[in-house]
Amino acid sequence: MLSNEQPLKSTDLHIGAAAPGCKKKDPILVADHIKKTFGGLTAVDVEHLEIPKNAITALIGPNGAGKTTLFNLLTGFDTPDTGTWQLMGSSLSGVPSFKVAKMGQVRTFQLTKALGLLTVMENMKLGAKDQKGESLLSALIPSLWRKQDKEIEVKAMELLTRFKLDAKKDDFAASLSGGQRKLLEMARALMTDPVLVMLDEPMAGVNPALTQSLLDHVLNLKAEGMTVLFVEHDMHMVRHIADWVVVMAEGKIVAEGPPETVMKEKAVIDAYLGSHQETDLGEVTGRIKIVSEGDQK
Ligand SMILES: Nc1ncnc2c1ncn2[C@@H]1O[C@H](COP(=O)(O)OP(=O)(O)O)[C@@H](O)[C@H]1O
Ligand SMILES: [Mg+2]
Repeated sequence: MLSNEQPLKSTDLHIGAAAPGCKKKDPILVADHIKKTFGGLTAVDVEHLEIPKNAITALIGPNGAGKTTLFNLLTGFDTPDTGTWQLMGSSLSGVPSFKVAKMGQVRTFQLTKALGLLTVMENMKLGAKDQKGESLLSALIPSLWRKQDKEIEVKAMELLTRFKLDAKKDDFAASLSGGQRKLLEMARALMTDPVLVMLDEPMAGVNPALTQSLLDHVLNLKAEGMTVLFVEHDMHMVRHIADWVVVMAEGKIVAEGPPETVMKEKAVIDAYLGSHQETDLGEVTGRIKIVSEGDQK
């Protein structure tokens, strides 16, 4: 299985100096002049951002930095005042969220959006909605619709099994633990076969017993060829699974780089780490070796 592999950190992702807005060798998402104000407050003001393909990028920054707002804008859940952005060269500007998902870019929410009064399976099927079975033709041909529904169910079961939620398929989502709801949300996001998976604080509020499993799932997404962009406050997690780190403060990108170097930058320490403990607690997953300071070339 995937989890026995030893995935290596992806390195050498950028062109030129690792600085805010730097170009990537193989970007999957490119954004320009993304600005969003709420009344007098500038929540997001990002000049240029490129997310490297088939790598794990962590978006970090203090509360209120604009991380969730940026996620909302890039996924069509909110509209920026200005800005353009492309997924693999296709413009996503002004594209509504369901179409963004259909185009391969999905996200999960900081506060999980699993619908408590639906079962786990029903939540999964909702993840596939809007991409299949919605056309007039399939609505007019019930056999086609049923076939599609069956395929969706099979796929949902595969994902639920992988996320160890298969035994809970008929339970209401409300009966799941916080961590299980996070897993359900991630599983549901995968129903559309995304290329870019954006996770807003996937570990927040998750029981430590499930943290390992969530981390493994994130690593597996990359191993399967997907790109991950995730918001995380736990620097220990970021250090161990991220290939690249983007730091936001007050709406702007203030630093970018590989985790080992970016967390030593003054702007990052000032903006963020100053208020966070930064002790290395050892290996998290056992899949990625700890890079200690002397090991970096
Ligand atoms: N819908 C909204 N209306 C008004 N202000 C908002 C709204 N959403 C976010 N903000 C403000 O924008 C800033 C960035 O918020 P957010 O994107 O949630 O930050 P983060 O996710 O980094 O903690 C904060 O000051 C927040 O209060
Ligand atoms: Mg947030």
